[in-house]
Amino acid sequence: MNSLPEILASIHARIPRYWGQGAVANYIPALAQVNPRQFGMAVALLDGSVHTVGDAHVPFSLQSITKLFTFVLALRSEGDALWQRVGREPSGAAFNSIVQLETESGIPRNPFINAGALVITDILTTRYAHLDYALLGLLRRLSDAPDLHWNPQVAKSERETAHRNMAMAYFMKSHGNFHNEPELVLDNYCRQCATEMSCAQLARASIFLANGGQDLTHSGTPGERLLQPEAARRVNALMLTCGAYDAAGDFAYRIGLPIKTGVGGGMVATVPGVGSIAVWSPELDAKGNSVAARAALEMLVDATGWGTKGL
Ligand code: DON
Repeated sequence: MNSLPEILASIHARIPRYWGQGAVANYIPALAQVNPRQFGMAVALLDGSVHTVGDAHVPFSLQSITKLFTFVLALRSEGDALWQRVGREPSGAAFNSIVQLETESGIPRNPFINAGALVITDILTTRYAHLDYALLGLLRRLSDAPDLHWNPQVAKSERETAHRNMAMAYFMKSHGNFHNEPELVLDNYCRQCATEMSCAQLARASIFLANGGQDLTHSGTPGERLLQPEAARRVNALMLTCGAYDAAGDFAYRIGLPIKTGVGGGMVATVPGVGSIAVWSPELDAKGNSVAARAALEMLVDATGWGTKGL
């Protein structure tokens, strides 16, 4: 097998063939202004090393990738009580679909679709006076990046156009599954989605999921324990089944790793016992997942065999 830097360089060289096969998200106006032809990839390994290629140090809008970290925060504070308010089944529907909420009494299918993430943000809005700082604090600690922030222009742009998310919040409130004012929760949700990180930072920040719930320091020694091993296993299971929305089956078939995607074009994937991967390229397919990032992950698992053992 080639070395990891050689594999990453070879993936990078094959990315231009994917340019133009997707389009940047434009339903959030500020996201439409991003230069589409960018690509970055970072792999953080359990020995503390981080391998990068392309635009891996360029910050991008995390969007739905933050749903992974807010879910972890909620799991830590609520434990299993969380499952009274959100399910853990794949939705098979678009990330922003409203249709299942009506037949399922305002209980979203899982914490990664928009409706489920809004419930999680509602729970965290009750728990934290300043949710943006709770989330940024966690991400700054995990990535060793004290200057991480959320982008005010992106948050404002999303907040001004968040009609569908607002509708879902009110609908869930009508079923008693929303405790705070939808306006307040939407403010928090739009700030959360506007958080920016680079692939290198994101790969570092998610390594605890590949390490049984425990973070690693830069030298690879044990760091903060975020989750017990059983909880980390369950988060990975949810990522595998629900992390790519209505493309989760296709992603599991092609890549076979726990994953979480976002409409900023980013993806984070975990290889339990090995490390974590962050990829970013802004052009999306019709289901809201990055075309080039998906291709890059497929190339990486093909070249390394990751995910074929032990999962
Ligand atoms: O709420 C939204 O629609 C966006 N802030 C996030 C959606 C998203 O990233 C879905 N991912 N593919």
